[in-house]
Amino acid sequence: MCIHFTLCEGSDNQPNIFHPTKLLGKSTILSIASLGYSSPELDKLEISMHNARMSHAHRAQISGTMCFVQAYAKINLTLDVLGRRADGYHELATVMQTIDLCDTICLTTTDDDRVQMICTTPSLSNEENLAARAATLLRQRLALTQGVRIELHKRIPVAAGLGGGSSDAAAILLALHQWWRLPLSPVDLLDMATSLGSDVPFFLTGGLALCEGRGERVSRLSSHWPTAMRWLLLLKPAISIATAVVFRSLPVSDYTDGNYSRTVSSAFNAGSMPRAEDLHNSLERSVLEHYPEVAQAKEDLLRAGASLVRLSGSGPTLFAPFAELARVINVQQELQAQGYEVYLVRATHSQVGSESFF
Ligand code: C5P
Repeated sequence: MCIHFTLCEGSDNQPNIFHPTKLLGKSTILSIASLGYSSPELDKLEISMHNARMSHAHRAQISGTMCFVQAYAKINLTLDVLGRRADGYHELATVMQTIDLCDTICLTTTDDDRVQMICTTPSLSNEENLAARAATLLRQRLALTQGVRIELHKRIPVAAGLGGGSSDAAAILLALHQWWRLPLSPVDLLDMATSLGSDVPFFLTGGLALCEGRGERVSRLSSHWPTAMRWLLLLKPAISIATAVVFRSLPVSDYTDGNYSRTVSSAFNAGSMPRAEDLHNSLERSVLEHYPEVAQAKEDLLRAGASLVRLSGSGPTLFAPFAELARVINVQQELQAQGYEVYLVRATHSQVGSESFF
């Protein structure tokens, strides 16, 4: 299938957009959700300003030949590894939540027939970047000839267990689908997302979800976020961890039956706070054993005043929930004074983190 793009007339209310004229006819304009989150008390605090600004982010802002999109990070509240599959992957049940730490992507249409990738992290400025691979896959699937430049302002730490690369890839699929009004069904998007990576399907919807299988079976959960977890402090130890290495070295004795994720899902759906002992990550014991920097960071977080600390994904990032801003700020300051990379974030629900296409 070959799709041709034309540039439409634009006005203040109706920005220029590209659309595949042969298939879809006259374009309609996308509605962009306005996220009226205002928090003046946060803006006064230097250490929180970064997050406050990000909370005002919009999704897929289109202006002429340019499209901006935010890609939000996630944490794993639970991660049950059920067993190893015949295809080499592991069967999972995991409860994930998007957070307001995000990368910013700017897409620009170009005259040449290729995908250009420019990233603020130089080692990611190449076509192997999952964001570039998402654009390439989509162009191949639909035999598109329209070129695109991807500029990626990276803020989410890389190889940190926060899903940054996966989120970038999902954001590219969603943004190009919206912007170019591509004839893709939810199943097409899910199929492409799954082929890009196990976490990518989750980021098509974001918010709070139970993800099963390899990660591609995504069930949204009620977004009643407990006040006891209003603030999330992330600590990123100064190492990177390859997910494949963690899974490969995981002993069978660390496998679980999926009950932690099911119990936590039920708690969220009932609007109650999950029990601390159910916020279990099957990879954590092994990561703490093999990476002493992570074990030390967990100890330091607890000593600084966190009451619950868990590993996100395969790490090394740890997260700790807090009910009160004054308390989390004290802990953050103490850890920053110790030289740690810390982020104060909050959970984002679908209208902020990512809009659902389903
Ligand atoms: O799917 P993705 O490329 O993000 O996964 C990275 C690595 O993590 C895989 O190569 C695999 O080793 C491991 N993994 C796994 N089972 C999963 C997800 C990831 O074994 N469900």
